[in-house]
Amino acid sequence: MDLNKITKEVMLTREELAEKTRELGAAITRDYEGKDVLLVCVLNGAVMFMSDLMKEIHLPVEIDFMAVSSYGNSTKSSGVVKIIKDLDKSVEGKHILIVEDIIDSGLTLHYLIDNLKSRGPASVEICTLLDKPSGRKADVHTKYKGFDIKDEFVVGYGLDYAEKYRNVPYIFVLKEEVYS
Ligand code: XMP
Ligand code: MG
Repeated sequence: MDLNKITKEVMLTREELAEKTRELGAAITRDYEGKDVLLVCVLNGAVMFMSDLMKEIHLPVEIDFMAVSSYGNSTKSSGVVKIIKDLDKSVEGKHILIVEDIIDSGLTLHYLIDNLKSRGPASVEICTLLDKPSGRKADVHTKYKGFDIKDEFVVGYGLDYAEKYRNVPYIFVLKEEVYS
C-alpha cells in the first residue's frame, strides 16, 4: 500500500488517537457509572474507534451496530439518510451513546438521534471522534468529542475513500487532486 502518493499530511497519529480515546473512555466511565449503557456503533466508519473506545470504558456496557448511508462514494453529504442495517437490540430504558467517526453537516446524526429517541431510551448522546464544525447544516449536541478539524477530506482509522483505506491505523488528509 503506497500511501505517500495520496497523502497530503498525517493529521492524527496512532499515539494521539490512543491518548484521546483513553480520555474519552475515562470521561464516559465516570459519567455513566451505575447506568445501563448501550454503545451504538455507526458502521462502517466508526468501527475502529468503537473497538478502541470500548476497551477504555470500564463499565458493563452493551454494544450494537447500525448502518446508515448518506454519502455513497462521494465526498459530500447527499443529505439523504437511509437505514441499511438496524439495531438488533431493544433500546427501551437504556442510555444510548452513539459512537460516530465524524460529524460534518450533522444531517446523519440529526436523523439518527430523532429515530432512536422515538424508541423510548433513557437518553441519547453522541461520542464522535472528529468534528468538522464548518460543515454544519443541522444542529447536534456532541457530549463527547475527540478533535475539531478543518474542512478537509480525511481517511484512515475507519474512514474511507471510495470504501478503501479504512484499515490504515492513523488519520491522514487526502490530496485534493485524488478526489477532485
Ligand atoms: P454528515 O454530513 O451527515 O456526515 O454529518 C457524516 C458522515 O459523513 C462521512 N464523512 C467523511 N468520511 N472522510 C470520510 O471518510 C471525511 O472527511 C468525511 N466527512 C464526512 C462519514 O461517513 C460520516 O459518518
Ligand atoms: Mg464514510
